[in-house]
Amino acid sequence: MNRDSDEVELERARSREAALEVTFGLKVKVKALKDVDAELNGTRLRAGTLVEATLQDRIVFHNDSELDLLDLRRRARALGGRFQLKASKSEYLVSNNPSLLEADDILLSPGTAGDVLLKIFCDYDKRIGTLEVLEADRPIMVGETNVRTTSPLKDGDTIRIDVGQFLKCNFSERIIEEERNIIRTLEVSEVTHHFSSGDIGLEGISFNVVRGELVCVMGASGSGKSTLLKVLAGQLEPTSGQVLLNNQQLYPNLDQLKRYISYIPQEDAFDEHLTIGENLQFAAAIRSPHLSRRDRSRRLEGKLVELGLSERRDAVVGTAVKKTLSGGERKRLNIGLDMIGSADVYLFDEPTSGLSSKDSEHVIEIIRSMAHNKIIIVTIHQPSSKLFQMFHKAILLDKGGRLVFFGTPTEMLRYFAEAEHQHQFGADLGACAACGTTRPEFIFDVLETPLRDLSGDIIYEENNRGQLVPARRYAPEFWRDKYEAFRLIQDVKQVSLRKEPVAPLPSAPLQRKKRVPFRWHDEWTQLRTLLKRAFISKLRNRGNLVITIGVAPVLAFLIASLLRYS
Ligand SMILES: Nc1ncnc2c1ncn2[C@@H]1O[C@H](COP(=O)(O)OP(=O)(O)OP(=O)(O)O)[C@@H](O)[C@H]1O
Ligand SMILES: [Mg+2]
Repeated sequence: MNRDSDEVELERARSREAALEVTFGLKVKVKALKDVDAELNGTRLRAGTLVEATLQDRIVFHNDSELDLLDLRRRARALGGRFQLKASKSEYLVSNNPSLLEADDILLSPGTAGDVLLKIFCDYDKRIGTLEVLEADRPIMVGETNVRTTSPLKDGDTIRIDVGQFLKCNFSERIIEEERNIIRTLEVSEVTHHFSSGDIGLEGISFNVVRGELVCVMGASGSGKSTLLKVLAGQLEPTSGQVLLNNQQLYPNLDQLKRYISYIPQEDAFDEHLTIGENLQFAAAIRSPHLSRRDRSRRLEGKLVELGLSERRDAVVGTAVKKTLSGGERKRLNIGLDMIGSADVYLFDEPTSGLSSKDSEHVIEIIRSMAHNKIIIVTIHQPSSKLFQMFHKAILLDKGGRLVFFGTPTEMLRYFAEAEHQHQFGADLGACAACGTTRPEFIFDVLETPLRDLSGDIIYEENNRGQLVPARRYAPEFWRDKYEAFRLIQDVKQVSLRKEPVAPLPSAPLQRKKRVPFRWHDEWTQLRTLLKRAFISKLRNRGNLVITIGVAPVLAFLIASLLRYS
């Protein structure tokens, strides 16, 4: 807990600015890390003082302001908890009811509704555990499985307690983390972007994504996929329309909201002269400077295993030409650099481009494993059918940044099969050859159906670069209008099915807008890391080293010879 002159700021991890360390269990332990001008239960909080209190107690500051411990716990719980498991204790009860727990058990956030009582058995050596559901009035899930009685657990497994509330098991580090995500919805409303050159990047795009959804953005090259991702990432303000997170507009609140978004661009972000381990280590220090060195190295170990790179941790990355890593390993490292931080919304631009189908599946599998309570949007030029089915929803863009479909992969295939049937036979879909298709290529075949002359030959036209390309039977505007009509019909159907209007979801609390204090320690960690990374990288780059060292004597020799003989 940090206290500056007018406000109390909470952090999950201890930092150098921290003034008090507050541990919430059945009792509240308050430890002063520095001298604080305050009292708790009549004891002055001098550096090193430890006071045990209850949730009803208050810290009274000498300027007469007070800090309610119950209120403090509520605020701390909104950040999620981190429970360090003891080597001597292998059974933990988990509940939101403190009267059912003993000291050191896991007390869930107060926001947890109903009754939950779980038991977790831990085997730290084998890095596994068992979950036993003793009492729960809602489904408790491990991964995709609903657990009624018991379920085995392994490192990295997540136990879903409620919507947006998870326990992440890490037996090797003896940690169970409670995750509570803040961002629940991403809404894109009528977003249009015109570049300064006059080119249209996006045109009137609208869709909604909720927490837990993994969404694919597909479309031909130049259809605006990367532009859409930059708009969502807060990097390119749209000409008109809105991007909303939890019903709050992104661009007017960018300072406050951008910390929840992680954007992973198409280009590789790693340093080619460093090893995989060093790249991830530096990324962790830059993205999470507030974590202690030990916490960062723990996170690094976990991430290396998750990315399937632990055996290659000491391999130098190497250039794209002089390869020491496979294409899949390079991509996994690239996405890992950002996953080592923690955000609620992840935007990946073409994470599978140039990879074999097996490597692509591995990359999407890694991304999917973290999608359980996040919003994840991935652009893929044209996914394979297996990849396509791994997504919950898909967005299809056509030339000029037009949205021509948004829905589940199955809905999209069905929509285009129907469109194809209508065009061919002028009738609604009955049974047809393409209806059972799972190939996303089929969607592009329909979208880009070529225009043919009377003899059946394809008609070619010149594009804006002067190349001859097959003319399309249906322009992007046709597909956009068709989709808007389809969506309208869907909306009307849904409204007529509803008996009474559905109340909108209450938006999750976002942190109050406040002055962000300047953190010397974090800034210094980041600067030191960047300097160290640049230094090691320059030292390992032989060509660069030879030039740097050799250039001065060669120049001196040339100038000296010039002066001597002139
Ligand atoms: N800064 C810019 N100024 C003008 N036009 C741009 C700019 N950036 C992109 N464009 C154009 O906008 C269109 C969409 O570009 P974008 O990069 O979003 O396409 P994409 O779908 O990501 O393509 P790819 O699959 O090749 O990555 C393209 O026609 C591109 O030439
Ligand atoms: Mg792109």
